[in-house]
Amino acid sequence: MQEKLRRSFEETLKFALSSGAWVVPGGLEEAEDYAGPPSDLPILAGPGGGKLAVIREQMGDCKRCGLSAGRTHIVFGVGSQNAKILFVGEGPGEEEDRRGEPFVGRAGGLLNKMISAIGYKREEVYIANVVKCRPPRNRDPKLEEIAACINFLKEQIEAINPAVICALGRHAATSLLGIDAPLGRLRGQRHFFEDVPLVATYHPAYLLRNPSGKREAWIDLQLVRDLAAG
Ligand code: URA
Repeated sequence: MQEKLRRSFEETLKFALSSGAWVVPGGLEEAEDYAGPPSDLPILAGPGGGKLAVIREQMGDCKRCGLSAGRTHIVFGVGSQNAKILFVGEGPGEEEDRRGEPFVGRAGGLLNKMISAIGYKREEVYIANVVKCRPPRNRDPKLEEIAACINFLKEQIEAINPAVICALGRHAATSLLGIDAPLGRLRGQRHFFEDVPLVATYHPAYLLRNPSGKREAWIDLQLVRDLAAG
């Protein structure tokens, strides 16, 4: 028990040290300044990346919904084809649309800290969104936009076959689980998307506005980490 307590304390401390924005006043500025990883990060990495390339090709110059009209880039996804953890966000923001990569803005800075807090590097996981094009003024994606795009995410999940999916925010969780419930009721437990364990937690953008949610998010992230470890 003593040993378990010590380990848990050590982990919490490691988390605190590795995630300034979570615990250090002023850390948010740090996240704001975050420039993101180099934009030439490979979309596909590792053997078998071909499956993702095929999905991207199927998407083509997608005009399946109205979001295509306002986009600069389709934001397909980034990370390792062999990722154990797949993070799923809602949809690209302004910076993501400009650079063609998910979570490279302010919320991305915090997501990177969440990833490193559970012992992973950004390039070891895979990061995707429910909708691949930016909703205007970052509004919520509409049901018909999600419906037009969700099969690409499902194909990405099948191609990567992660040990666990971490759904960031209500839209990611409800789109994959097919149920409508507030995030507060979905988080903190293991669900399944088909046969893949899924953990829902707060979206990093929400956590930037509501830092008190980080305590629960950390509980969710530990569950993600444990499920990834098998
Ligand atoms: N928010 C998201 O849901 N996805 C991104 O890629 C960036 C911000």
